[in-house]
Amino acid sequence: MKRVGILISGRGSNMMALAAAAGTAYEIALVASDKPDAPGLAWAATHGIATFAQSPKGMPKAQYEAAIDHTLRAAGVEVIALAGYMRLLSDDFVANWRGQILNIHPSLLPKYKGLDTHARAIAAGDAVAGCSVHIVTEELDGGEILGQAQVPILPGDTPDALAERVLAEEHRLYPQILAAFAA
Ligand code: GAR
Repeated sequence: MKRVGILISGRGSNMMALAAAAGTAYEIALVASDKPDAPGLAWAATHGIATFAQSPKGMPKAQYEAAIDHTLRAAGVEVIALAGYMRLLSDDFVANWRGQILNIHPSLLPKYKGLDTHARAIAAGDAVAGCSVHIVTEELDGGEILGQAQVPILPGDTPDALAERVLAEEHRLYPQILAAFAA
């Protein structure tokens, strides 16, 4: 059973979906956040999951990442799952965990890397949107795609309405892909 460390920055609904599906292929060793007041962090703590909060403010990036790296390794983490973690990891951090970091991104990669994915998909007149789970490399949202799920873009869709439907697919896709990856 692989020990997974989840990095979040906010709500943590994907983290909750990963935690709910844990137990066969993987277990959650730690949930860490760059935002000490992330709602997902409080949820993890009340559900008996070890948590770690480290704000990067006023600290060199290397020092911030060394603290995260140390905590993940001390918890015996073998796979890192980014789940709404809104900070770029340095090339050094990615190299130290090569092939062991997964991310969920709310678009059908390679389309719409970065932010505002749903607004961009609607503005482009796309018929479908979706989400992707991929390996994290030094290229933003650019690593190998492990799985995707699609939803139709409906007439009159707003970015928020679309995001909500894509999010439901994220919660299905991410645990499935993480379990397959861990196995
Ligand atoms: C999710 O939609 C995730 O795909 C997205 O942030 C949201 C986090 O929600 N991630 C990114 O945009 C990464 N660039 P959550 O905190 O409820 O899981």
